[in-house]
Amino acid sequence: MANLVRAKISALGTYVPPRLLTNADLEKMVETSNEWIIERTGIRQRHIVDKGMATSDLAIEAAKSALQERGIPGSKIEAIFLGTVTPDMLFPATACIVQDKIGAAGAWGYDISAACSGFVYALQTAVKFVESGAHKRVLAIGADVMSSIINYQDRATCIIFGDGAGAVVVEPATDGNYMIDFIHEIDGSGACSLYMPGGGSRNPSSHETVDKKMHYVHQDGQAVFKYAVRKMTETSETILKRNGFTGKDVALFVPHQANRRIIMSAAERLGLKEDRIVINIDEYGNTTAGTIPLAMQTARQQGRLKKGDLVLIASVGAGFTVGAALMRWAC
Ligand code: COA
Repeated sequence: MANLVRAKISALGTYVPPRLLTNADLEKMVETSNEWIIERTGIRQRHIVDKGMATSDLAIEAAKSALQERGIPGSKIEAIFLGTVTPDMLFPATACIVQDKIGAAGAWGYDISAACSGFVYALQTAVKFVESGAHKRVLAIGADVMSSIINYQDRATCIIFGDGAGAVVVEPATDGNYMIDFIHEIDGSGACSLYMPGGGSRNPSSHETVDKKMHYVHQDGQAVFKYAVRKMTETSETILKRNGFTGKDVALFVPHQANRRIIMSAAERLGLKEDRIVINIDEYGNTTAGTIPLAMQTARQQGRLKKGDLVLIASVGAGFTVGAALMRWAC
């Protein structure tokens, strides 16, 4: 039976901390150069938090901004799904802290650990609760403070990541502009290509785990790169095809911002020219679950996102986790 309720993004809010970490700053910290970073990743700077600021602080600002745009108080929100790999604490969920601070009394929710696909997974969850009729107003948030788990002596990882957050309000659609489809995959065979080995039940935090730097991100950059290009392309092609579209129909491709070369390789395979791709990695680096809402915001600020536009989003993250979504932009 056809699903009668469709869901849309009705508001978007984002937040990045004001402090900048530029390539020039990194040149003083590790053996690297501005030219190498720009050529190999496209990144010029990242925003990082001051000591004491946590993921919920960014998520709360992004959520408040989305609520303000929608013109509703936090008390109207029924559920909060928050994608992050850098929760304030292992538990309770950062979604709980956000719920309290935005005044969403009566709401429920949880964190979703899907790394760079965290926002897409949170969005899918929010959309399904709205489509099922269970809820009318839900927040989907992607937020990470990657600087809290980065080794700033490891040039292979410290140049890539930044901190940031984005939040959207999801509610029932009232016209033809709605979330059309999602695709998700996980592939645990790649678990050790990108991971933080310490601090969990496998290697609980100890002097030894800290001495071995297991509380930092470890990555096989080339394995991640190849997987990301292949999967971003495959899932994007599949979601377009099964909904009767081709790359030519896409008004805007909003990819996870991991590396400019990953984005351009995937876009080329999809037949998408640069004027239909959002890239803001130069400004923010890879903010993990924050990249896609931050990229949507950049597109809006550039006047490139209009109601009714066919928008394709795609992500690959640690896990591996894969996500893609297709929508008619609705706000
Ligand atoms: N500055 C200067 N040189 C660096 C460097 C840095 N920050 N990091 C690595 N290098 C060096 C390497 O040591 C290597 O030197 P060698 O040839 O003497 O051994 C050389 O540059 C090439 O290294 P390589 O790892 O092949 O570079 P790359 O072109 O693959 O770029 C990444 C490295 C990490 C930027 C790239 O692999 C990448 O972006 N991978 C995906 C990572 C990602 O997106 N993670 C998040 C996923 S959601």
